[in-house]
Amino acid sequence: MKTYEELPDDAGSNIVGQVNAQATRISKRLASVNYTVAIMSGKGGVGKSVVTANIATALTLSGLAVGVVDADINGPTIAKIMGVRNTTLEYASSGVKPAETPLGTKVISMDLLLSEDDAPVLWNAHTQKDAFTWRSSMEVSALREFIGDTDWGELDYLLLDLPPGSERLSNVFELIPNLGGVVVVTIPSEVSNLIVKKSITMARDMLKVPIIGVIENMSHYECQHCGEHEPLFSSEGSVSASFQLSSLGKIPFDPKLSICSDNGTPFVHEYPNSPAGKELMNVSQKVQDFFKS
Ligand SMILES: Nc1ncnc2c1ncn2[C@@H]1O[C@H](COP(=O)(O)OP(=O)(O)O)[C@@H](O)[C@H]1O
Ligand SMILES: [Mg+2]
Repeated sequence: MKTYEELPDDAGSNIVGQVNAQATRISKRLASVNYTVAIMSGKGGVGKSVVTANIATALTLSGLAVGVVDADINGPTIAKIMGVRNTTLEYASSGVKPAETPLGTKVISMDLLLSEDDAPVLWNAHTQKDAFTWRSSMEVSALREFIGDTDWGELDYLLLDLPPGSERLSNVFELIPNLGGVVVVTIPSEVSNLIVKKSITMARDMLKVPIIGVIENMSHYECQHCGEHEPLFSSEGSVSASFQLSSLGKIPFDPKLSICSDNGTPFVHEYPNSPAGKELMNVSQKVQDFFKS
């Protein structure tokens, strides 16, 4: 399949012009954002979205202006986790007004554009087979609009919650070539680490994006009765050590974290003194330190 740059004739749609115009809009938008950070793993279900939402909340609680882009176009969960699903997006000449949590974190997600809970994201095409072929480029287009057409205002941090897949960072990198850094999320299982290592190689060696560090999520379970730590997974050795990356923290499994995420309440705000809450607050501090150093 040809890329849009190779099309000799685009039937008058001026697709190259449209993409260039949006690239200009993105760089104008990002001119008022201090730091862009992608939260990635490669692996699904390891807690990227929960971690993104809680780093965003922790940064907001530190008095910073924060926006979150739900870059998981097909499996958007950020709006639910951050409790803004019932927001109706408003459009103004300056762009789409993002949803805002009660604490003031700004959020944009495909979920805010879907009318029904059960509605899947379907791309408009003659057949679903065509839609499948175009899915990746459609996803990049949606992401391009989320970043470029949203009226973010002045932000200290713009966080991007990536979908699973070790190539997903390259989509973001295409749109934000001066991406500030990447936070990697893994769980201590061999299966997770296998995939996460591929993503780190892609980020560090191929895209040359700065890696802020690695979070080990669901590192252990703390018994609510006796306080004893029990491992949840069996992996020896850490991904951060094998790649000589900084460890940003080990977040225990805490049922309250998943309940808060399901309810759309900000866990780090509700339980800042729980072990998982303290660890997430530390992660957000380390992200800030990374950019100050
Ligand atoms: N440390 C944790 N303790 C308890 N539940 C967690 C923790 N991390 C993630 N979860 C839960 O695990 C599930 C997957 O997390 P999610 O953030 O959606 O993963 P991903 O974005 O990587 O697919 C969610 O139901 C979430 O609430
Ligand atoms: Mg997710």
